[in-house]
Amino acid sequence: MDTKTTRISPEEIARQGEFCEKIQERLAAQPRAYLAFVDTYGCQQNEADSERLRGYLKSMGYGFTQDENQADVILINTCAIRGHAEDRVFGNIGALVHSKRRHPGQIICVCGCMAQEQQVADRIRESYRHVDLVFGPHALWKFPELFYRVFSRRGRVFENTDEPGSIAEGIPVVRQGNVKAWVSIMYGCNNFCTYCIVPYVRGRERSRLPEDVLAECRGLVEEGYKDITLLGQNVNSYGKDLGLDMDFADLLAQINDIPGDFLIRFMTSHPKDASQKLFETMARCEKIAPVFHLPVQAGNDRVLKAMNRVYDRATYLDKVKRLREQIPDVVITSDIIVGFPGETTPEFEDTLSLIEEVEYDALFTFIYSPREGTPGAKMPDPMPMAEKKANFQRLVDAQNAISAKKHAAYMGKTLRCLIDGVCEEEGFALTARTPGNRLVRVKEGDESLIGTFQNVTVTGANTWSLWGELA
Ligand code: 5AD
Ligand code: SF4
Repeated sequence: MDTKTTRISPEEIARQGEFCEKIQERLAAQPRAYLAFVDTYGCQQNEADSERLRGYLKSMGYGFTQDENQADVILINTCAIRGHAEDRVFGNIGALVHSKRRHPGQIICVCGCMAQEQQVADRIRESYRHVDLVFGPHALWKFPELFYRVFSRRGRVFENTDEPGSIAEGIPVVRQGNVKAWVSIMYGCNNFCTYCIVPYVRGRERSRLPEDVLAECRGLVEEGYKDITLLGQNVNSYGKDLGLDMDFADLLAQINDIPGDFLIRFMTSHPKDASQKLFETMARCEKIAPVFHLPVQAGNDRVLKAMNRVYDRATYLDKVKRLREQIPDVVITSDIIVGFPGETTPEFEDTLSLIEEVEYDALFTFIYSPREGTPGAKMPDPMPMAEKKANFQRLVDAQNAISAKKHAAYMGKTLRCLIDGVCEEEGFALTARTPGNRLVRVKEGDESLIGTFQNVTVTGANTWSLWGELA
């Protein structure tokens, strides 16, 4: 695979805009409004990609709906990280045959990480003939051109070539809400953890230029966004491919210097690259939220090695210690995989002891799912699923007790929280986020407070959330 980054030229993006205009002219001549439904699976990177796909669809003249039966265009942005996610997507794509029967003009598109996999594209080609357009993340920037081919009825289009990684600036964006925004700072991953499909479907690491990231953040702050999350598969290696004299910590410091009252978050960090300089930068920069998502995956050194994580338990624990030295009340979260091929129950118990030692605020826990094409899928995996599930349950129970204890410690505290939405639950008016991004349901308060920072006193807590009152 070629690893060179291609920067898509502004002329090329303008050419995509011309396809949008052609479609827009055709739709404007119709007597009714045309609607698109964008269905997103998986991680925040996919959410961010969907915001750009919506941006393109809006430029084409489409409005939006959540109802597949009303939609003229259905776009499914898929996730390939685990088999379960893929099965759900195939189930939903299969069910769309009915909406297409009722609405033969409907255009059905499948994109995202699954669409980049050859075996998935082949399966859709053969067995899901109602799907019109399939394209992977590498081709997102040329969605208008691909879509136009289908729109003008030139047959089905499949685009999942293994192109060198690209970066495109200037794609229109339609964001969800006006308080929180995602900003991708880099794409792809170079780490090849042996369980993970991401490097195969999203290509090698490539960074956006700092001036482009800063301009986007400045624009968001001017528009009134209060919570900016920088996204990348491994944000800590930001800039390494650019040959500039700056790293991720420097980028954070520059965003922190943008005038305005807002928070900066980031994800995801690979422990091998989480540096002392980064911890010190976080401690020094008042706009960087005191929260760190630091996936450990496993607590046993043999398993970590087999996963190709390139750190050991002691190094990881040392980073957590140094992070807490810099930011004592930092909220730390993690990802854990249970049942990696060859993991024994005593080895799994090292994960249990690690989570007890770190005391994470929250965990994202997964049972290992073999992904075709990754080294893990070829490793002997003798442990029965029942034993993996039992271990998984032990992990969830242990973490629930830790989360409940951590949440109880918030009782009576008054924190400066970002009011981020209306709370749908009875007895509550608003939702808020602590500086460390923990959810607080607020009893009373006006919707006009959404998007403002308010002091909230925590009056109740359970395993999953906090609740309280405006102070
Ligand atoms: N099986 C189970 N979990 C996985 N993850 C990544 N690949 C797999 C897999 N094959 C988890 C990791 C990663 C998170 C986003 O998903 O924990 O950090
Ligand atoms: Fe996957 Fe590992 Fe890259 Fe994360 S760092 S995307 S787990 S290969």
